[in-house]
Amino acid sequence: MTLAHFPDHFLWGASTSAYQYEGAYNADGKGPSVQDTATPPAGTADFQLTSDGYHRYPEDFKLFGDLGLRSYRFSIAWSRLFPAGTGTVNQAGLDYYQNVLAELQKYDITPVVTLFHFDLPAALEKQGGWANRATIKAFVDYAKTVLDHFSPQIVYYQTINEQNSMAQGMLRAALAGHGTLKDVVQANHNMFVAAAEVITYAHEHHPEIKIGPAPNLVAVYPLTPRPADVLAATTYDALRNQLFADVTILGRYNHVAWHFFQQYGATPDMAPDDMAIIAGAHPDLLYFNYYNTETVRANDPGDTLPFTPVRNPFLHHTQFGWDIDPVGFRTTMRQLYDRYDLPLMITENGLGAHDHPAAEGQVHDPYRIQYLNDHIYQMRLAIGEGIPVIGYHIWSAVDLVSTHEGFTKRYGLIYVDRGEDNASGTLARTPKDSFGWYRDVIAQNGANV
Ligand code: BG6
Repeated sequence: MTLAHFPDHFLWGASTSAYQYEGAYNADGKGPSVQDTATPPAGTADFQLTSDGYHRYPEDFKLFGDLGLRSYRFSIAWSRLFPAGTGTVNQAGLDYYQNVLAELQKYDITPVVTLFHFDLPAALEKQGGWANRATIKAFVDYAKTVLDHFSPQIVYYQTINEQNSMAQGMLRAALAGHGTLKDVVQANHNMFVAAAEVITYAHEHHPEIKIGPAPNLVAVYPLTPRPADVLAATTYDALRNQLFADVTILGRYNHVAWHFFQQYGATPDMAPDDMAIIAGAHPDLLYFNYYNTETVRANDPGDTLPFTPVRNPFLHHTQFGWDIDPVGFRTTMRQLYDRYDLPLMITENGLGAHDHPAAEGQVHDPYRIQYLNDHIYQMRLAIGEGIPVIGYHIWSAVDLVSTHEGFTKRYGLIYVDRGEDNASGTLARTPKDSFGWYRDVIAQNGANV
């Protein structure tokens, strides 16, 4: 088999998000986000300091330059620009991101920017968060400010990171008695409308922009060929994956999801032109995050949900119990290109582990190299099949605080010294072995994978 070449201008990148990397949670007029007001799980780091990227980004970007990174995917913290989510823009917030862009420019690194990555301004959450339609306007106003201010410096934008993971989180809370399925569906619908308005605005005012959603999309397997398991897998796929990309890209709710909402009396309330706004927005790219596939089995009739996600007996797992499935990555790319017919850009892919510096101070992370190499190889095969993948971003560029497991679960190519047990440490940066490996991959444009 002849392996395809990666395109000449392929965006070999790496990724962070504002609340997980920047720290400086209240610096220079920033308002609190929902991440600052939440209580982190016992024993894990909060989001006040994180990697202190807010102050140390010049040092980090210099390392990105050494790495040869072609793109850096990061998010803008909404509450740095609008401390209460709406109102007058905080100039210091705009200046900060302008400086970030200037620093990236020094190393010829293309910015790939997420407008919203899990950090809703806390003031908006108090007023009902995404379930309140007023949040649509707040997001659109914030996004317009960003697009107008930073054009044409930023071309690649994602509207919302992992809307489906947020919906899953809200659903878990609802099943535990906090809120209802209707609230979840409504919040989700409002996000669709907000993202669509931003996409249309971008196209009308800044035609150079390439904008789209960034869901977490993965192939779903039935645990067995038992027809009930296969049916459960299609239901799960429709609700976990397709719902999100379908509404944004195809402009419609798929009927499995819609029927599911109907069964529970949980269809969203809509303004008369919502679906026209959604259908009128046409993303340029499908950005997506991929870590692992999912496997489900059917539940018994009468159970609350028709499926249960389970371990896949054919896969190995990370130290944190996540399935590892490079072949599933290729399956996912096939499914996405086949259904949505858009170029793909991977905005996150990586492995979380307990990394420990060896006696000489170096961090040896062969498990991460293996994971990344295997996934890039499958991406190369997918490109060989004619799937237009234009960029790939490793999560994460630098060690940062994981969503729920603090600093003990690290993903970075660059180690950050946070001391033992999430103490502040020296915050010194040390490139891991995976950094040197990725530098070679980029230098050879993937020919060595
Ligand atoms: C993605 C998120 O879901 O996965 C990131 O966009 C997150 O914010 C990453 O950090 C890894 O998940 P976790 O829970 O291991 O940090």
